[in-house]
Amino acid sequence: MSLAPPGIEVVDLQRTFKSLRAVDGISFAIEPGEIFGFLGPNGAGKSTTVLMLTTLLPPTGGRATVAGFDVASQGPDVRRHIGAALQEAALDPLLTGREHLRLQASLQGLGKPARDTRSAELLERVGLTEAADRRVGGYSGGMKRRLDLALALVHEPTILFLDEPTTGLDPQSRADLWEEVSRLAREQGVTVFLTTQYLEEADQLADRIAIISKGRIVAEGTPDALKGEIGRPSLEVVPAVAADRDRLAAVLGEFGAPTAGPPGAAAVRLEAGADGLAQVVRRLDAEGIALQTFDLHAPTLDDVYLAKTGERLTEAADDGAPVAGAAG
Ligand SMILES: Nc1ncnc2c1ncn2[C@@H]1O[C@H](COP(=O)(O)OP(=O)(O)O)[C@@H](O)[C@H]1O
Ligand SMILES: [Mg+2]
Repeated sequence: MSLAPPGIEVVDLQRTFKSLRAVDGISFAIEPGEIFGFLGPNGAGKSTTVLMLTTLLPPTGGRATVAGFDVASQGPDVRRHIGAALQEAALDPLLTGREHLRLQASLQGLGKPARDTRSAELLERVGLTEAADRRVGGYSGGMKRRLDLALALVHEPTILFLDEPTTGLDPQSRADLWEEVSRLAREQGVTVFLTTQYLEEADQLADRIAIISKGRIVAEGTPDALKGEIGRPSLEVVPAVAADRDRLAAVLGEFGAPTAGPPGAAAVRLEAGADGLAQVVRRLDAEGIALQTFDLHAPTLDDVYLAKTGERLTEAADDGAPVAGAAG
């Protein structure tokens, strides 16, 4: 046993719903103070995992300890150490932000003076002091998520669960929340388990990432290590004439293994890295294949995801709603 306070340990954790294996035997360990990003598309099993780790849903197999306590048999001990902002967080539109916090504080057994101080402190920390006495019904999405976060922090948990805390937020609100979450980890040593559908979020915020797809972990490591594993950049080329696609793919195939690209494109992972580009261009020119687009991509977490699952985890530009498995 180490002397450091334990974080989270998960061994072969499973949850089935009838015949569906929503979480299909996942294992990982999270160090105290670490921000762990649990990245995957809709339906991957992220929320089911969070519900099990927060003791709200019993596992159907495997085991998990959170803060050193077993989620199945030591629920109250687990709950004392954790805070959670879940996807279906219920805020009352008629209550103000401050009223929510005071209520939560009294549920946690804080006396009146402590309740008021703690509420004011948390409102300040998440940037809601000015809006504190307005009804939550008038809050923006970003303000609501920050209030969720403040509510999860009332009893000073050492481990924090955030289930898609920034889904649907605009980029500025998202960045504000990232800053708050990383400050919690860096300055207060809070362990953070965060689920997300956003590659960029996992990349920027998480110390370590597990990619989950269809209930299974398909990759795990630091963002840099995962990208390094993929290593070489990919080249995506769309021919000017659709009928040239197969010929184009054959030429590109001389320079690396085919990989999935956007519709209409031929794509390869360049064997020689970006150094071979000039030669690719010369070969295409010699074959008389006219091009519409020619894009070189440094490895991203999306490439890692693609390499591990055969699908893309693509983010739509408008509302950030991701689309999985769009690769043709
Ligand atoms: N209570 C439930 N009953 C039946 N199926 C469920 C239930 N909760 C989740 N599922 C299914 O389990 C899978 C994983 O869901 P979920 O964990 O919510 O994914 P994510 O949070 O990654 O979007 C999905 O196919 C979902 O429909
Ligand atoms: Mg979910």
